[in-house]
Amino acid sequence: MKFGVDYYPEHWPKERWPIDAGLMKEAGIEVVRMAEFAWAKMEPCEGSYDFAWLDEAIEILGREGIKTVLGTPTPTPPIWIIKKNPEILPVNRDGVRLGFGGRHHDCQSNPTYREHIKRFVTVMARHYSNNPHVVGWQIDNEFGNSHQSLCMCDSCSVAFHKWLENKYETIEKLNEAWGTIFWSQTYSMFDQIPMPLPTPNGHNPSLLLDWKRFASDLIVDFQKYQVDIIRRECPNHFITHNFMGFFDKTDYFNLAKDLDFISHDQYPMHFRKNRDAIAPSYRLAAILDLMRGMKQKPFWIMEQQSGPAGWETISSTPRPGQLALWTYQSVAHGADTVVYFRWRSCLFGTEEYWHGILPHHGIPERRYEEIKQTINELGPVMDHFKGGLPESEVGILFSYDQEWAFQIQPHHFELEYISHMLGYYRAFYDANIPVDMLSEEQEFSRYKLLVAPLMFLTKPDLTAKLEKYVAEGGHLVLTMRTGVKDWNNAVISKILPGDFSPLVGIKIPEYDCLRDIDQSVRWAASELYEKVEKVSKWADIITLDGADALACYTEDYYKDTPAITQNTYKHGMAYYVATELGPEVMKEFVSYAVNHGGIKPIMQTPQGVEAARRKGNDGDYIFILNHNPKSAVLNMPLGWKAVIGEKFMRGNELHLSQYAVAVFKSEQV
Ligand code: GLA
Ligand code: ZN
Repeated sequence: MKFGVDYYPEHWPKERWPIDAGLMKEAGIEVVRMAEFAWAKMEPCEGSYDFAWLDEAIEILGREGIKTVLGTPTPTPPIWIIKKNPEILPVNRDGVRLGFGGRHHDCQSNPTYREHIKRFVTVMARHYSNNPHVVGWQIDNEFGNSHQSLCMCDSCSVAFHKWLENKYETIEKLNEAWGTIFWSQTYSMFDQIPMPLPTPNGHNPSLLLDWKRFASDLIVDFQKYQVDIIRRECPNHFITHNFMGFFDKTDYFNLAKDLDFISHDQYPMHFRKNRDAIAPSYRLAAILDLMRGMKQKPFWIMEQQSGPAGWETISSTPRPGQLALWTYQSVAHGADTVVYFRWRSCLFGTEEYWHGILPHHGIPERRYEEIKQTINELGPVMDHFKGGLPESEVGILFSYDQEWAFQIQPHHFELEYISHMLGYYRAFYDANIPVDMLSEEQEFSRYKLLVAPLMFLTKPDLTAKLEKYVAEGGHLVLTMRTGVKDWNNAVISKILPGDFSPLVGIKIPEYDCLRDIDQSVRWAASELYEKVEKVSKWADIITLDGADALACYTEDYYKDTPAITQNTYKHGMAYYVATELGPEVMKEFVSYAVNHGGIKPIMQTPQGVEAARRKGNDGDYIFILNHNPKSAVLNMPLGWKAVIGEKFMRGNELHLSQYAVAVFKSEQV
């Protein structure tokens, strides 16, 4: 199963289903996901089940050789459940109970809701366990999406207290760890501890971080509750969930653990004001790399954009070539299966304007033809690298705990964990150097270079793991605000960067939040020239203690003091970047670190043309992806043969029109 669609037969008359199935087959679709919002149709009132319609849809599709992934419909409890048990409705952070009418109107800790789920999911799973066309399950849909700041109801309050008790064991330990002596917040019992509802002033940062961890664990537990039912009832089916890239409510590394593989929903174009109209290609690549990093395994795209996105407002229309381009990019970064959202644009409901492959009228047009052609071209090639992955010498450590800690205390109004991290990612991406994203639990030693951005929170075992990585020859990049806090989000009383000091060979006696202050750094490590560029948000003020300076600040009372340092430590190297760099100095720094680490780019490409590599069972494959809205020309290195896009070759030159793609295979095995 390499290509699929998200299908909602319940939105269309039965007579249409065979037509849809036929058109899907013609396009090369092999799998559909269905039913993740169809609870009300499957159980119109308590205990009365109706799967006949879904059986029939599965059968009609099955006759065309199309398999089914079923979603558990738990994001949409029907109105009869809510009327019977209104306590299931979630409470937002203003203490207001939210109403029925959207989706995810459910509290995930609520025991009554869990009972409804147990009843329904057991019956549904049992019904489909032996259906020959059903291959697997998606639990719920996009956990955390539309949950706002998650639920602050009485049930969640109790669950929070239990979670805290489990973590701290005694209330004295919690008081100590959080520093509740501050502002007379000392607690004598766990059930006195508030949820972070509005207060006259800000909450304790340790409480806020534990709340985020609790909320994340609650989602993991909610998923596990359903995973257990399905594993028991359907031992031969796989289980997955559709993640949302950089979404931040759940620690996805934890959520991934109970799944056979993860899936991801990739929407490059967006329709709301506060988002990029189209996500830059490096961001899309970074998201895909993070998704692969969840289990360091191939993954599925469960929803790949297939038309204009929209609710009240609408995104631009994907240009000819873009649907194909995004599909190729997902596969290049490790997707084994791509499922498009959605098959056909719906005639009603909140997502009337979230366009599918087919337009509202249901007659195949341009988008159908483009996807059909993509499947035709790419499908046969994908057989060769199923299970194979991109191979990277560079790793970026990704941490939800650090991200949450900076959401609680961003320091500078514009400091964000993801965009700080992306500053590094982008420099590798622009140089066509593949990157893995990994969690602190994964193995570091396979990487020549590891970037661990904003290691604000520390714990001894992680510090020791990083020290060992460098001691044994790894090259490590640490950045500003490293080593400031313990894992409970309280400040450590050591000279910064605390226990990392010997590793990076520096001390940080002072720092400067760059509020309306112009600061720049001078990159002086390249012998031929200097580069001066603005930096932003933060400046750690460094005293060298064994390290060398690679760049210095240019302004103010700490002018000429180090801003980027390098320290040889045992068999390895540790860099420290004390500020948020601009793109030019970042480029210099990354290319310096890459050269010193002995890391080679895949190849050279013009701006906006991505080269990505994936291992196949019969050699390596390189994907060349032109993300530019204009044509691009590049030289293909020797030793690669075009398997897709041969028509774009003129001698050794590859001429790609706007959004065009080509795939090459290594000639030597
Ligand atoms: C998400 C959801 C889908 C749908 C699309 C479009 O990714 O998983 O159910 O809502 O967005 O809005
Ligand atoms: Zn709740």
